[in-house]
Amino acid sequence: MPILSPTPENITEAARHLISGGLVGMPTETVYGLAADATNGRAVAQIYELKGRPAFNPLIIHVADVAAAEKLAVLDERAQFLARRLWPGALTLVLPRRADSFISGLATAGLDTIAIRIPDHGVALDLLRTVNRPLAAPSANLSGHLSPSLPGHVALEFGNQLGIILDGGPCRVGLESTVLDLTGPLATILRPGGITRETIEASIGPVSAANPHIPESPKSPGMLASHYAPSLPLRLDWTHPGEKEALLAFGPLIPEGFATVLNLSETGDLHEAAANLFAYLHALDTPEHSGIAVMPVPNQGLGIAINDRLKRAATPAS
Ligand code: TXA
Ligand code: MG
Repeated sequence: MPILSPTPENITEAARHLISGGLVGMPTETVYGLAADATNGRAVAQIYELKGRPAFNPLIIHVADVAAAEKLAVLDERAQFLARRLWPGALTLVLPRRADSFISGLATAGLDTIAIRIPDHGVALDLLRTVNRPLAAPSANLSGHLSPSLPGHVALEFGNQLGIILDGGPCRVGLESTVLDLTGPLATILRPGGITRETIEASIGPVSAANPHIPESPKSPGMLASHYAPSLPLRLDWTHPGEKEALLAFGPLIPEGFATVLNLSETGDLHEAAANLFAYLHALDTPEHSGIAVMPVPNQGLGIAINDRLKRAATPAS
């Protein structure tokens, strides 16, 4: 089994593996990442290959501290402020890329911007400090599949193709980071995620949100309409249970007649629901079920990111 406990020896081994061009399954507070040395074009190419990810979809670059981010990108006043208040954390900033950064052009898909974050997870930070290079890391799943919130999800997805997966336990946040574009005068949320719009606005004032229904707007190349999808059909409706249909529930009142029920949060807590989302979708996505029905989640705060993922999961791949 390539899942290793995050002892100092194993973190050193993972760092060596990265420096020699290998890939590592890296825990973060949002989801598990598929990490490579972002300065090594061959290593980055392997990420795209292993995930089956289109090369026009750039990767998030992970660093250990703000000084490291400043070597790669230009942080204006807004970026400095957000970095001080919300990093480490589930916020990715899209910034003008420094021409003299040594990041592989493949990692940024040839754009003159770069997406950066400092993950809020002890194992990721230890690994970043030990390897002492920026790490490109998309979520550790095949392109279009559900994101991994447990080390076992990563192992199932990639098996022995991935030499090392560091075990950082279940992801605390459970949703990918919020991607915020700061390259224009108006800050724009390109992907809703683990940090809410309200939290960002409390720091820098009004931000706009990119229209998620324009899936391939050039600003957010990764926002494909069908994404985060289980292999079973998923419907955003919970009436008339089908035979062997599973229910992803939310809140205290559960309809009857479903073969299996997993409740994202009985008390209606959106943080709890986010943390459970991908693990429960993975758990229900089994051949004993005919499909997955989903109860509504309030579209506010973290619920916006949860509903974004559910809508994409319900969209059949084209
Ligand atoms: O929580 C997360 O963000 C996880 C963990 C591992 O850190 N990573 C993650 O990466 O979700 P990925 O590659 O699955 O998502 C990256 C998103 C995509 O939607 C991509 O299009 C966008 O960030 N992105 C990356 N670079 C960009 C850029 N320069 N301009 C606009 N969008 C960018
Ligand atoms: Mg992803």
